[in-house]
Amino acid sequence: MCGIVGYLGHREAYPIIIKGLQRLEYRGYDSAGVALMDGELNIYKKKGKVVDLHEFAKGKNLKSNLGIGHTRWATHGEPNDRNAHPHLSNSGKLALIHNGIIENYAALKTDLQQKGYVFKSDTDSEVFINFIEDIYLNTGVALGEAVRLALNKVVGAYAIAIISLEDPNLLIAARKGSPLVIGLGKNEFFVASDATPIIEYTNEVVYLEDQEIAIIKDGQLTIKNIADVEMTPYVQTIDLELEAIEKGGYEHFMLKEIYEQPKSIGDCLRGRLQAKEGKLVLGGIFDYVTKMVNADRILIVACGTSWHAGLVAEYIFEEFCRIPVEVEYASEFRYRNPIVSEKDVVIAISQSGETADTLAAIDLAKSKGATIIGVCNVVGSSIARATHAGSYTHAGPEIGVASTKAFTAQISVLTMMALMIAEKKGTLSESKYRSLLVELESVPAKVAKALLLNDQIEVISAIFKDATNFLYLGRGFNFPVALEGALKLKEISYIHAEGYPAAEMKHGPIALIDEAMPVVVIATKDSSYEKIVSNIQEVKARKGKVIAVVSEGDTEIPKMADYVIEVPHISDALMPLISVIPLQLLSYHIAVMRGCNVDQPRNLAKSVTVE
Ligand code: G6P
Repeated sequence: MCGIVGYLGHREAYPIIIKGLQRLEYRGYDSAGVALMDGELNIYKKKGKVVDLHEFAKGKNLKSNLGIGHTRWATHGEPNDRNAHPHLSNSGKLALIHNGIIENYAALKTDLQQKGYVFKSDTDSEVFINFIEDIYLNTGVALGEAVRLALNKVVGAYAIAIISLEDPNLLIAARKGSPLVIGLGKNEFFVASDATPIIEYTNEVVYLEDQEIAIIKDGQLTIKNIADVEMTPYVQTIDLELEAIEKGGYEHFMLKEIYEQPKSIGDCLRGRLQAKEGKLVLGGIFDYVTKMVNADRILIVACGTSWHAGLVAEYIFEEFCRIPVEVEYASEFRYRNPIVSEKDVVIAISQSGETADTLAAIDLAKSKGATIIGVCNVVGSSIARATHAGSYTHAGPEIGVASTKAFTAQISVLTMMALMIAEKKGTLSESKYRSLLVELESVPAKVAKALLLNDQIEVISAIFKDATNFLYLGRGFNFPVALEGALKLKEISYIHAEGYPAAEMKHGPIALIDEAMPVVVIATKDSSYEKIVSNIQEVKARKGKVIAVVSEGDTEIPKMADYVIEVPHISDALMPLISVIPLQLLSYHIAVMRGCNVDQPRNLAKSVTVE
């Protein structure tokens, strides 16, 4: 969580930092701040969004060729001006921005207080910069070395950037567990949590590895690790278009990303799925297919929406590959001494590739000998690098905090993986395998057709926008879609919503149903169709309002449901890719009508790099 940006070069730092922070706001947005060097260290920070900071900074001295900026998602200390970053050391000479958590901050703080240090904020980050200052002042070493010595003593996760009043040509950055990328321009350097603040200036970047320190001094970049070994920077050229991270005429990123799905799913399938030839090529896992075919079990670890994609994958892998699958919340898995063996394959799913719990779950499973396969969206992310092999989702940057196109791309990749294994394992007949490939190829066009439902869904949204509760029901492959639909609504509209397996409704949620309760039922024509029709009748018998997502041409459900949304038909296993589209649109429109900040819902962050 938290986004950081730094600049050292010949341009004005402030505009670069502010624009960069706006791009990183998906990482946190409860307060923001900048530190700018102009013979003195000018620090401006404000509770609220980056735009509030920008407003606050108007008319102030913003001149500087060296600066750091931060957008925060509070961990230690409530979001207010005082706790916002940058934090200054007691001498007033060092300024720091920090993304992550310092776990031993309390002990460090006590020691520092005994030495006379005073603290103005409740943050671990202020302790961190004073700890560095204490070493710096007491040892007389260079600042970079003081940072290195300090990093050997702190426990926790960090991506930091530090500037010093004593040296206008010095910018120091370091990371452990939180991402950090350095942009290399002509006589200028950028540091940021991801490449989006950098790409309009340079596409040459260095991704800092864990426990590495970058010292940018007098136009030179030096990287060393915390054991004091100098590293050769690995410069990569990134391929990221500016327009991919802009709204492109849409009112919100979320809507843009919902509408991008025919393209993002197409990009994900392209070059991998060759339906006519009956071929699937996932180059990234090529060397691990035999391992997957022979796996005793597949364990899926993920969080949030990615966990829902994992649930869809559970149904798909078990159905096609006949391999037992367990889907685990990464945060539970990592702390419960799970039984994992060398015959297990672990699939880690993550849009950002930075989720701390998923990363820790991978480390744990790896230490027990399992093979780890990643399904990530962000190329070069920590999870992508921590796994043995994997397949990227290629959905492009997802900026709206509520995940949409990443979800469908994850399911697309996982479906291809499952089909590839099933084919090798012989658990699917050739004809079924081939017909599924052809159907998979038709998904982008069917998603495009489902998006034409937008106007109808807007009308339904207006009817239910003031509801206080929603229930989402689904069975089989559509059960995880019910969970995802409910999560989307909760996240961005703040309406309480629950997703449930439709039959399980009788064991609790049915007690909540009355004429005020909208019940979204995903009831497409599949093997459990007859059963879900009965569940709809159970809801209607209690006067619930049924919004049914059905297959095109269904004549039975329209007789009993209050509102019917018809989606293009496709095989059971592929239906989540289609049936989730109207649910994404429903949550979007309801949230907009309620005046909610769709792209930056309260308390949430897109990349959760703390446990
Ligand atoms: C946060 C985001 C969700 C996301 C989850 C997992 O909660 O707001 O949209 O599903 O993290 O993130 P990951 O990047 O690992 O998929």
